[in-house]
Amino acid sequence: MLVAQHLSHSYTNTEGQRVLALTDVSLTLQAGTFTCLVGPSGCGKTTLLRLMAGLMNPEQGHIAFEEKPLTKPTRRISLIFQRDSLMPWRTVTQNIALPLQLARIHKAEQQVRIDHMLDITGLRGFEGAYPAELSGGMAQRVSIARGLVTQPDILLLDEPFGALDAMTREQMWQELLSIWSTSQATMLMVTHDIREAVFLADRVLVMSQRPGRLLADIAIPLSRPRRLDEHLEQLTQLEIQVRQALQP
Ligand SMILES: Nc1ncnc2c1ncn2[C@@H]1O[C@H](COP(=O)(O)OP(=O)(O)O)[C@@H](O)[C@H]1O
Ligand SMILES: [Mg+2]
Repeated sequence: MLVAQHLSHSYTNTEGQRVLALTDVSLTLQAGTFTCLVGPSGCGKTTLLRLMAGLMNPEQGHIAFEEKPLTKPTRRISLIFQRDSLMPWRTVTQNIALPLQLARIHKAEQQVRIDHMLDITGLRGFEGAYPAELSGGMAQRVSIARGLVTQPDILLLDEPFGALDAMTREQMWQELLSIWSTSQATMLMVTHDIREAVFLADRVLVMSQRPGRLLADIAIPLSRPRRLDEHLEQLTQLEIQVRQALQP
């Protein structure tokens, strides 16, 4: 569905030097799958997501979305940013509605889609709340709802649960998996939490230190639905595999 070939990208820093962020990264996302990407801080994970969202064009290499070159953002690929980017002056409903307003979707259709997102993200009863009134977990659910309300084929998530405490995070894993199965979107999620990656994904991609390259592509053959307590031993084995790939 989304195919990246030989991507390299660099930035110019404030001293005018070129910083190579990413080098020769190739990956293919199959429709309906859940892929996690782990790697050390600063290795180019966010850069890769921004490229795969069409927000920037790679310096080298190319990206094809359904066999056509991806050169600009499309409503069919959504990106949820690392930092909470809700608009504080908009309510939950108004935040979720934003991409629909930008896309000039008919008012009645907007309401249908928003209602559906409120249901599948468990935000019923909080329609009129402002971001400052929400817990971190709920704010992240609003971000996910806003990312999915346009019914994208692909959802890219950049460390969406990084700021949450461990218990809330584990609750969000279950919720995200249920949202994933309802929406049928293809997911690519960046995380620095290895347990999170193996618990959620069909496949975990491991990136090197900057400049980021792919070191490993590890299949996660656990059946679904998954439970932390039931699959603890297998999860731990898979975690060890990912850790070893990170430190070759
Ligand atoms: N806009 C930018 N200008 C200059 N350097 C950048 C910019 N964005 C990222 N970088 C650098 O590129 C490298 C990769 O960044 P990033 O993709 O954000 O990594 P990660 O998400 O894995 O932490 C880092 O060294 C970072 O400092
Ligand atoms: Mg990042």
